[in-house]
Amino acid sequence: MKKLQISAPGRINLLGEHLDYNHGIVLPAAIDRYFEFDFKATESPSIEINALDLNESWDFEFSQLNALQTSGWRSYVKGVFMLLFEDDSAKHIPFDPASSSYVPSSFGGLKIHFRSTIPIGAGLSSSAALCCGLAFGLNEWFGLGKSRLELALLAQQTEHQFAGVKCGLMDQVASLFGKKGQLIAFDCLDHSIETFSLPLVGVQLFLLDSKVKHNLAESAYNERRAQLEAAWMKAKELFPSIESWRTIDEIQLNLLFAHLDLNTQKRLRYVIDEIARVACVQALAQDISVSGMNAKLSIEPYKELGKLINQTHEGLRDLYEVSCEEIDFLQANLIKQPEILGARMMGGGFGGCLLVLAQDSFDFNRLKSLTTAYHAQFGSTPALERIALVDGVRVL
Ligand code: GLA
Repeated sequence: MKKLQISAPGRINLLGEHLDYNHGIVLPAAIDRYFEFDFKATESPSIEINALDLNESWDFEFSQLNALQTSGWRSYVKGVFMLLFEDDSAKHIPFDPASSSYVPSSFGGLKIHFRSTIPIGAGLSSSAALCCGLAFGLNEWFGLGKSRLELALLAQQTEHQFAGVKCGLMDQVASLFGKKGQLIAFDCLDHSIETFSLPLVGVQLFLLDSKVKHNLAESAYNERRAQLEAAWMKAKELFPSIESWRTIDEIQLNLLFAHLDLNTQKRLRYVIDEIARVACVQALAQDISVSGMNAKLSIEPYKELGKLINQTHEGLRDLYEVSCEEIDFLQANLIKQPEILGARMMGGGFGGCLLVLAQDSFDFNRLKSLTTAYHAQFGSTPALERIALVDGVRVL
């Protein structure tokens, strides 16, 4: 009996938040929290999906999928199936004129079980891991021959068309292109992908999950994107030769600001500053790698990195305005600890995890008084998540 097992990781992002739809370079990495899928051939002509953690299952005929109303995880599954089989990369699969598509179920039935260790709504891209892992598995199963970048784009389109979130491409690239122990530098303009190591000598990265998920996250995300796209149209009108936010200068920026409302000015200021911070981290990573090969590293470059991480948090809080009270409370208290070099909200915003850079000597018991104070104020207990950087989507 034909079988296939796939694992698809979630992600962190060191820096470059909200730059993936703003012409930037982002610095994510895949982490050791996964969606895992089991694919099995069955006799029945239908496709059966089991979400094991939720104890929910879904049985459908591919030819009827388009007409089915879906929500939650089913919308992502529907999107991946619909987008994967809509073009002729699937042409070796029999074409069904009734549904105007290639019909995977005519290959025989398929049963897919999945489960996940990626906390939902924690800013670790569980939906991207679901879409990337499923798309990768179906691509293998049906021999569709799509590249990892094509699968990343397809998973992104699933979010746009089937979940209504106009996300960038960072999460999908991290899940599909992650490398053990490495960060990714993903250039969102030309889609080039490089990996680099940031030796963590004397320091560690960990996550603190605030356990908060505000409902406005998706609408606010789309709103930020629309504001920046409108600003970009104006910039192109004023300076037709401009290529991206990366090359706008301060004089042009001031001229442009005169045409933008105050909120859009703040959003754009954040984007320009964050682009500059990413360039600093790239230079720093270079220095750390080079000196790391020769000598015992000093803590200084990590202190610099920590400062950049804190500045990103300030920008996300005050200018991009995608943080929230709970996250700001944790961030402000974390950075009071002398061994914590930097902390910031991570991901789309309005909750989820903080990314923390700390010295190795940091004693995690020190988080206890903070989590107690947090519980007293907000009624939930933040969770410490230790992470490792891992390979992207793979066959097990
Ligand atoms: C979400 C989106 C990404 C990216 C981040 C913010 O995770 O899915 O595309 O924009 O927010 O950096």
